[in-house]
Amino acid sequence: METKVLPATQENIELAAGILREGGLVAMPTETVYGLAANALDEWAVQAIFAAKGRPQDNPLIVHIATTEEALPLCAQFPFAARILADAFWPGPLTMVLPKSELVPGAVSAGLGTVGLRLPAHPVARELISRAGVPLAAPSANLSGRPSPTTAAHVLADLNGRIPLILDGGPAGVGVESTVLSLAGPPLLLRPGGVTLEELEGLLGEVTVHGAVLAPFAGQEAASPGMKYRHYAPDARVLLAGGPDMVAKITAAYDSAKQKGLRPCILCAAHNAPAYAGRDFRILYRDGPEEAARRLFLFLRELDGPYNLLLAEELPKEGMGLSVMNRLLRSAGFSWL
Ligand code: TXA
Ligand code: MG
Repeated sequence: METKVLPATQENIELAAGILREGGLVAMPTETVYGLAANALDEWAVQAIFAAKGRPQDNPLIVHIATTEEALPLCAQFPFAARILADAFWPGPLTMVLPKSELVPGAVSAGLGTVGLRLPAHPVARELISRAGVPLAAPSANLSGRPSPTTAAHVLADLNGRIPLILDGGPAGVGVESTVLSLAGPPLLLRPGGVTLEELEGLLGEVTVHGAVLAPFAGQEAASPGMKYRHYAPDARVLLAGGPDMVAKITAAYDSAKQKGLRPCILCAAHNAPAYAGRDFRILYRDGPEEAARRLFLFLRELDGPYNLLLAEELPKEGMGLSVMNRLLRSAGFSWL
């Protein structure tokens, strides 16, 4: 199959909507990362997503809608807390996990009794959902296990020959995926993302953070099956460093890796960069963790190959820093210097 990459013009969005209505797959831009979309109400179309990504069948998909009202037929309950969060954060990078209705096929929810719902802020995604006339199931448009794609080129690198069309809407603005919050019981943060824990707590009071957000998944049954898989992993080895002697640990590891003939590169905050002079480094952020979020997946892809060891500085786990650390920890397989 030939994979076309087309700019997200009105004409091409209509073409994409036609493919979706016929049960096909389209990669679409969203404000977080690119998504691989199919008609969420069509079991076969949804199966094709799993096949194209090589995604484990027990990992459920997020259903994307174009208006808050479209959430109602897809869930068995839309609690008051969901209404408050929808008013505050939709359209935007928040996925709410709610008890599902019978409309949602088992393949979407991977057999769970819940469905993840999200109203994306990207105008192309919303236009595409509206024109397709159906809710769209869409995981990140990467091969399973790889860093999520923040550009159309990243999608092509992973899915060339596997899907007919990629709509190019430019680079994603947020850079990490949506926040996944379960409201099937007391509010439970399953994945930190574009909406911060602090923002959620500002409206809901205390939100429990699932243990798997910052630690390897240990339990028998994952509240969010995505937590148990290897994630965001380039082929290069990733190692994290933190603490008061972080810079010293990184320079020592870099120098010894070089001596062993490895190709190391450092991912750092701008204010630490002078300490790494003479070594290969990339500045992950200057001002704040939002910039780190925007650039992380890009660096994980671009540095993979030219380098085979990435030494990454820990970020403070506040605001978007928590979302970035969640991804960095998984790409490092939780290994520290
Ligand atoms: O920003 C995003 O969320 C992007 C864009 C394309 O919208 N999508 C995305 O999808 O990141 P995906 O499939 O790569 O990640 C969805 C995560 C997985 O960890 C999955 O296990 C979890 O959300 N999830 C989906 N439905 C769920 C449910 N019913 N219960 C618990 N977790 C769920
Ligand atoms: Mg994903």
